Amino acid sequence: MFLAAFWLNGQSVEPGKRRFDALCAGCHGADGTGNTPAGKSLKVRDLHLSDVQGQSDAQLLNTISNGKGKMPGEGERTAEKVRWNFVSLVRSFAKKGAGEKAKSESSQN
Ligand code: HEC
Repeated sequence: MFLAAFWLNGQSVEPGKRRFDALCAGCHGADGTGNTPAGKSLKVRDLHLSDVQGQSDAQLLNTISNGKGKMPGEGERTAEKVRWNFVSLVRSFAKKGAGEKAKSESSQN
């Protein structure tokens, strides 16, 4: 049971995390706060915020697949399964409770 739970958790977040670090973190930051030079210049929203977390999974998947504003879509080069991993990962930011800290940091800028 323990192994199965571990495997499931690993499946839902970890593969996405490695790709997130490679493909998304340049703009969104490894922690999703967008606190990177590119993130600041493109004004990416902190992925912890309720503006983002309040969107449906389908909306997040759509942004990740087709892009939005200055964000390039991943639909051409990643499988749908991988893009769902990104959705889970974006959701996982909300659960870490780093949002409040990130919010107060960004409001000081
Ligand atoms: C070139 C920089 C860049 C890269 C790379 C990038 N994004 Fe974005 N992302 C943005 C910008 C800019 C926005 C805000 C778009 C807008 O609202 O106009 C955004 C928005 C989003 C949103 C919606 C949040 C919102 O504000 O509504 C999600 C979810 C997201 N990105 C996830 C990802 C994921 C997952 C990846 C990697 C597969 C990724 N992004 C890669 C720049 C980037």
